[in-house]
Amino acid sequence: MPPTDASPHTLTQQIIARHDRAMSINYGRYPVAMVRGEASTLYDADGKQYLDLFAGFGASVLGHCHPDLVNTINDQARKLWHVGNLFHTEPQTRAAEAISKFGFEGRSFFCHSGADANVAALKLARLHGQKNKGKTTGGRYKVISTLGSFHGRSFGAMEATGQPSVYEGFGPLGPGHVHVKFNDLSAIESSIDDETVAVLVEPIQGEGGVNVPDDNYLANLRELCDDRDLVLIFDEVWTGVGHTGEYFGHQHWDITPDVMTLAKGVGGGLPVGVTHLSPKFADLFDWRTHGHAVHATTLGGNCLAMAVTATIFDVLDRDHLVGRAKKLGTGITDRLNAFAKDHSVIKAVRGRGLYLGVELDLDASSGRFATAGDVVKACMDRGVLINAVQGKVLRIAPALVIEQDELDRGLDVLEDVLKG
Ligand SMILES: Cc1ncc(COP(=O)(O)O)c(C=O)c1O
Repeated sequence: MPPTDASPHTLTQQIIARHDRAMSINYGRYPVAMVRGEASTLYDADGKQYLDLFAGFGASVLGHCHPDLVNTINDQARKLWHVGNLFHTEPQTRAAEAISKFGFEGRSFFCHSGADANVAALKLARLHGQKNKGKTTGGRYKVISTLGSFHGRSFGAMEATGQPSVYEGFGPLGPGHVHVKFNDLSAIESSIDDETVAVLVEPIQGEGGVNVPDDNYLANLRELCDDRDLVLIFDEVWTGVGHTGEYFGHQHWDITPDVMTLAKGVGGGLPVGVTHLSPKFADLFDWRTHGHAVHATTLGGNCLAMAVTATIFDVLDRDHLVGRAKKLGTGITDRLNAFAKDHSVIKAVRGRGLYLGVELDLDASSGRFATAGDVVKACMDRGVLINAVQGKVLRIAPALVIEQDELDRGLDVLEDVLKG
């Protein structure tokens, strides 16, 4: 039957119409349906090509359909997908070894998302507070996290998140979450009480606007946590796995957390979460300590995802992509700072490596942009994908395989859009 005027004409329109009937509408999506990707290029259902400078929220750290990851997943798919965690499998161990090798010596628990990884970290902190009760009788349980932070949307991770819009409407909330200003050590110090057991921070706040702390903030926080027997948890869901120009964000400050949580890039686009525990705390999750499993998941650490995770670290290492991210990021920052000298619409450029935030002065756009989202849409119309947070900060986080000429092209478009 030929389409009537009311029926969807393009493949994109057809996909959207079916989506709107079948899917829970949790997301505000652009009217674009992506069908294929290769490195930093995406193609939509109508054949339009996009330069991807946001790489699926940074998760596609090696770009789309990287040949090594395609080979890995094909090989593994023919061998073994999943057996559950009653058995040992080699891909899991390889992935965990890579995280210790490039991060810090420790033990990894594998799950599926950043929220999952943070919930495991919060549960571990509770176990520490039960074992080391301090002046309490029931055990320490409070966790300090920062305003503007994002830690996920499941119970636990949601309460730890320092943005009311994430948890409003979902009460009653779990107890024991205290939010203080980011990059303010004294705010953490003065919030510690007898019941406090942990501090949870992102080394660079992501959803809060790509906020990089002062140089001594995290090192002083490390000392404070040592002094007060608090578990220091770094949420490295965004900053882990190379984007910032170090394998893990904490390496910029030469300190080590007690627990590091990962997701996004560690799965390269597959759903992988990791809670990586320093040896001092790893025993708390050891089933032998309890006589039964205290934290577990069925599909966490499945063979397909783990083979991919292990290969991601192999490729980052082999192709020197992390150092390259640092260099490319410096180039972008220099270029945008130079642009900002003549165009006050850019207020600040923040971040590290290929994880950058560009804060806009929307008043200086002569009414062209009400929010940073308008800039994102204008770039998308011209085939370049970036992101916006907090209404006024653009985020740029391309895959680590991006080519210099692609970056140049993307920045040409962004600058053109900002100039108007
Ligand atoms: C820093 C941080 N932590 C945790 C999460 C939650 O990760 P997921 O969406 O995989 O649950 C996010 C997601 O954006 C994040 O940015």
